[in-house]
Amino acid sequence: MTQDYRHMHGDTDWFVHDRFGLFIHWGLYALPARHEWIKHNEEIPDEIYEQYFAHFDPDLYDPELWAQAAEHAGMKYFVVTTKHHEGFCLWDTQLTDYKATNTPAGRDLLRPMVEAFRGHGLRVGFYHSLIDWHHPDYIIDPHIGPLRNSPNRAELNKGRDQARYAAYLHGQVRELLTEFGQVDILWFDFSYPQEDGSGKGRDDWKSEELLKMVRELQPHIILDDRLDLPYGWDVKTPEQFQPRAGITIDGKPVVWEACQTFSGSWGYHRDEASWKSLEQLLHMLIDSVSKDGNLLLNVGPTGRGEFDERALARLQGMGEWMRRHSRAIYGCTQAPEGLVAPPDCRYTYNPQTHRLYLHVFAWPFLHLHLDGLAGKIKYAQLLNDASEVPIMQQSSGLHMHEVHADTATLQLPVQKPNVTVPVIEIFLK
Ligand code: GLC
Repeated sequence: MTQDYRHMHGDTDWFVHDRFGLFIHWGLYALPARHEWIKHNEEIPDEIYEQYFAHFDPDLYDPELWAQAAEHAGMKYFVVTTKHHEGFCLWDTQLTDYKATNTPAGRDLLRPMVEAFRGHGLRVGFYHSLIDWHHPDYIIDPHIGPLRNSPNRAELNKGRDQARYAAYLHGQVRELLTEFGQVDILWFDFSYPQEDGSGKGRDDWKSEELLKMVRELQPHIILDDRLDLPYGWDVKTPEQFQPRAGITIDGKPVVWEACQTFSGSWGYHRDEASWKSLEQLLHMLIDSVSKDGNLLLNVGPTGRGEFDERALARLQGMGEWMRRHSRAIYGCTQAPEGLVAPPDCRYTYNPQTHRLYLHVFAWPFLHLHLDGLAGKIKYAQLLNDASEVPIMQQSSGLHMHEVHADTATLQLPVQKPNVTVPVIEIFLK
């Protein structure tokens, strides 16, 4: 293949239409149940961490239930950690013994998951960690990993060969891209190059060759932006925050996806109290789409192989809202240039149907004033029950001190509709 793999891009048309995906972080870290970085955070040596390998027995694992929960939530794709920073692999890889098949789970956990999610119509994505705290050739650096503070790091690195680790990394990516059918998203995580060379980046992963191989094996695949290469990526990946506006590079809008957790930890965290409310989660989804972005919302399954009740309750709540409001999300993007939503609201817009959606985060008393839309609205209705929302003509006299000629005013019911986030569907002329 010629060098043009650097300028190849994955198929993002379905991605920017579908908007909403499920992230799954599942590995041995589900057992300590206090963050997927536990081995780094608590500097746990291999011989102690081994206990989680020996006791990883997700006997209640049923990916059908996971796929159902995601589908009912309105999610259209999923991205699962094939291997996280701990180095443990969910599938029956031939390149290491540090895999689910060798734990009490005794089987490949990835294949049935891919089959179940595909069976429920969701697209398939793999998150694959570049970082590896278990592989014998991975060079221990002073920034990340359980041994980063070890006084005899130099001694520990004797005999380690980062190029051999890179070959292992490429070999596993080849397995993932040749043994599981079409993969729609590949999510590498993450590079941390340092000025003094003490971090890890493109040379440590052999990112250039990795990109070439990925494009040769699955050219349509959507690739994230964490290989430490200025090219070859398809999606920007803001994490654990909502961008203030749509993301642009050199003034040009780019495809972007916010990845977010329910409670802060990506891996199952039993005691974390900072769980976002259903309303906050819906606001994040709506906010992302209102800025022409996606939301990838994460679940950390338990060591028994289940989504816990806190995650399930939120997924069910999002699904309930999506059941009536998904057409304000799928196929939608930011509002046409110049249209600014009223305070505490977001616009999403479907350019195909020419319908504008007004998501109301704080229900106002009686009126919403839509600047720039006077004379441009054919009809408006509440999306949850298709009840009309009359457009007040300026002449109806609102005793306002000033009448804005370009403003259309919606006449609202006093009571907020009984849905988490009311949406007004506006049929534009
Ligand atoms: C960060 C975290 C990692 C998590 C990822 C998700 O890179 O280190 O634990 O998997 O974000 O985007």
